[in-house]
Amino acid sequence: MMFLLLSVLRVMWNRATVCSRGRLAPSTSCPLLPSTLHRVFHRERQDLCHGRGPVSPLCRGHGPVSPLCHSEGPASPLCHGQGQGPGRAPAALPCRSLSSRAKSQQAAKRYPLLDGRIRSVFRHVFEENLRNSEAVIKRYSELLEMLSKGGGENAILRHTQRNKKLFVRERLKLLLDDESFLELSPLAGLNMPYGDIPAAGCLTGIGKICGVWCVFMANDATVKGGTIYPIGVKKQLRAQEIAMQNRLLSVYLVDSGGAFLPLQSELFPDKLHGGRVFYNEAIMSAMRIPQVAVVCGSCVAGGAYVPTMAEEAVIIDKIGTLFLAGPPLVKAATGEYVSPEDLGGAKLHTEVSGCSDHFASSEKEAYECIRNVISTLNYDPLPEEITEHDNPLYSPDELLGLAPRDYRCTLPVKLILSRLMDGSRFQEFKANYGTTLVTGFGHVEGHLVGIVANNGELSHDASLKGSHFVQLCSQRSIPILFFQNTAPPIAEPTSISQAEAHSNRLKAQASMMAAVACSAVPKITVVIGGCYGSESYVMCGRSFSPNFLFLWPNARVALMDSRHFSTVPQAGDSDCTGDESELKHLKKKLEEESSAFYSSARLWDDGVILPQNTRKVIAQCLEIMEQQKYQVISPWQYPVIRV
Ligand code: COA
Repeated sequence: MMFLLLSVLRVMWNRATVCSRGRLAPSTSCPLLPSTLHRVFHRERQDLCHGRGPVSPLCRGHGPVSPLCHSEGPASPLCHGQGQGPGRAPAALPCRSLSSRAKSQQAAKRYPLLDGRIRSVFRHVFEENLRNSEAVIKRYSELLEMLSKGGGENAILRHTQRNKKLFVRERLKLLLDDESFLELSPLAGLNMPYGDIPAAGCLTGIGKICGVWCVFMANDATVKGGTIYPIGVKKQLRAQEIAMQNRLLSVYLVDSGGAFLPLQSELFPDKLHGGRVFYNEAIMSAMRIPQVAVVCGSCVAGGAYVPTMAEEAVIIDKIGTLFLAGPPLVKAATGEYVSPEDLGGAKLHTEVSGCSDHFASSEKEAYECIRNVISTLNYDPLPEEITEHDNPLYSPDELLGLAPRDYRCTLPVKLILSRLMDGSRFQEFKANYGTTLVTGFGHVEGHLVGIVANNGELSHDASLKGSHFVQLCSQRSIPILFFQNTAPPIAEPTSISQAEAHSNRLKAQASMMAAVACSAVPKITVVIGGCYGSESYVMCGRSFSPNFLFLWPNARVALMDSRHFSTVPQAGDSDCTGDESELKHLKKKLEEESSAFYSSARLWDDGVILPQNTRKVIAQCLEIMEQQKYQVISPWQYPVIRV
């Protein structure tokens, strides 16, 4: 009888195409599940998740995928290579109950202790790394200081005094619960071919509103009137991708003159150009990821679509305007002068056009309104869970001396892990096999994670071990942390046996790449040293779509290490076409283009983080990714369309 009931429920589940992640939809939004059955179903699912019943794909993320990934539904960008793999639901999260987190934490106390003592033989390398870390962190702090001023003091004065608007960072203070938000890619836009664009003209990040983690995208109008540069488009698309991958509701603070016209050809026509932001808004809405917007300045042309495509929008009197063509264009076309207020102000859009839903008489009122709107989204904040966790036994400040200045200054990676894991405890997997990769389990602020960390060259055995371990994490729904410090590409083989070893290694690395690409658990990559060549793909580099990817300021990102450039044919070699000065120039260029700041400016990552803050950032990301467990997900698959 019970079996029959469960079978019926499974069929109903499939018909309702309720997404496997998140808590169940209440019966009101899922008519196929009457409330009594719903309770039974909920219990069954919990049993499955706790391993008491047959292994269910529902707990593993391979189960009935989101309707958006089926061919009948509108194509989701997640199914098109922006997510974690083709035709697959985004990563499922562990179905652990809250008490299981505490139990897991208890079990962790039995994991072996890592020996994090820095032996005297390593001291000189440690000192060298430390000096390098201090220098790059100084540079990093200077850059952040410069960026905190947006478009500069004059532009801020014009924005606040003449235009009577709040500076974007002040706006975030009013919007977010507190200041402990995670800013994404603050260095984006530095040193572009078209100049320095502070923070790419748009602040993005993840912060809590009414206790719920939300992605925010906020134009900074002190940077060329908030106009959108190519790098600004890329930054907004990345923020939306994060929202989709982690199912985070999104808030847009729109204050933008639309496209930066001189660069229109790099902004308008292509697939991942400006229009993709609006496309994503519709897809996100269909995925049941709510989006709300505040019109807190001028929203011209492209800028006007962002709030109009959002599910709910607030517009601020006097400072918020919304139109496809502003007063100067109207004057040019018709000879008629019309004020911005009459053409597209708050009254017009809330009383006549319906492009905005709420009228706010001040900025403060607008952010209060947005908080109220968020409270109607039926989103449960993460439960306030007090989990006790042990701090690492070794000081995180010592990570500065462990962050390798270059690959030759790499120290055993377990010294780093001993400063990141709760209680410096680590349950290692295959400790004596393929030792140039360290794999195992540990906790970060109470979250169970699988660790994959480079500890030398990614050899054949190390890659096989990595492949095995990544599959274990996928099977057990455990998020994976990759600590990347890949070796510069190896020299060409000089014998048949070496060539054979190379191809064996290639095969093993390909196996690990496949395991990483297809693993449906959340992944975070931290580049702690080098991110070189193809090994960086194996270690879940950007193109392998980790949920988050951060760099330490000492990190180097390039196809090859400029310091190993002597292996390239030198002038005088028979097959060399370039001269010595050309090679010198190339080496210098490679050196400049490999820095963490160069990478972050181009959004090849989600930001540079300080080694001593790594634990905090990782814990924050794990909590953010966990939020989707508590969401109501219904089978509805159409976006909200403004009428
Ligand atoms: N493309 C390129 N530059 C632009 C721009 C655009 N679309 N819009 C504004 N700018 C530049 C201005 O030239 C100015 O540059 P400067 O500081 O070097 O002088 C800077 O941005 C600030 O503009 P300003 O008009 O002084 O600031 P403001 O706060 O008074 O007004 C806007 C901002 C956006 C309301 C106003 O500039 C505007 O209406 N711009 C035109 C918007 C438009 O038509 N966009 C169409 C895009 S398809």
